Amino acid sequence: MITTHKSSLRTIRISTLLLMVSFSACMQPTPQPVVEHYTPGLAIQMKYMQHWTHKLGLSVEAENLELADFYHHELEHATEDLIESIENYGGFPIAQLTETMMVPMMDALEDALEAGNWTQIRSAYTAVITSCNTCHVATDHGFIVINEGFGNNPFNQDF
Ligand code: HEC
Repeated sequence: MITTHKSSLRTIRISTLLLMVSFSACMQPTPQPVVEHYTPGLAIQMKYMQHWTHKLGLSVEAENLELADFYHHELEHATEDLIESIENYGGFPIAQLTETMMVPMMDALEDALEAGNWTQIRSAYTAVITSCNTCHVATDHGFIVINEGFGNNPFNQDF
């Protein structure tokens, strides 16, 4: 009798142990799939560029230097991201075109902002817009026409 009691006790102990082991196995965090760094495509990056360009324009129109400076930085980061992430698109060298067409205009605008001269800032801002459109023409997207975004049109774009 005693032996039977002992062995059934052991069975209980073993099954409790097994239960704990399987429970702790369930509690292990599920391994997460490795997510590759997500790079937004060209159109999505352009959408953000348009957004910051527009706000930059409205800051220039309002002659708010601090805000114009802020949006210039945002646009500058977007430009750098574009250069780093999209080398080619549709057979066009996107990074290289951005580097040669847009970056010099962005640098000139930065100088104008540092000088705090609104006439210079306005024309440097217009030159940035021209560089957007020049690149659209160069990449067969000349129908996407960006403007300064001054005034009431909710988009800084000609329709
Ligand atoms: C390297 C050349 C290049 C430069 C520089 C460039 N773009 Fe573009 N942009 C393109 C191309 C190419 C497309 C079409 C993308 C596609 O086919 O998906 C495009 C598309 C767009 C679109 C359409 C997407 C939308 O959301 O409506 C907008 C807006 C736009 N660009 C704004 C700008 C603005 C603003 C600038 C300047 C601050 C700029 N782009 C600078 C090449 C350029």
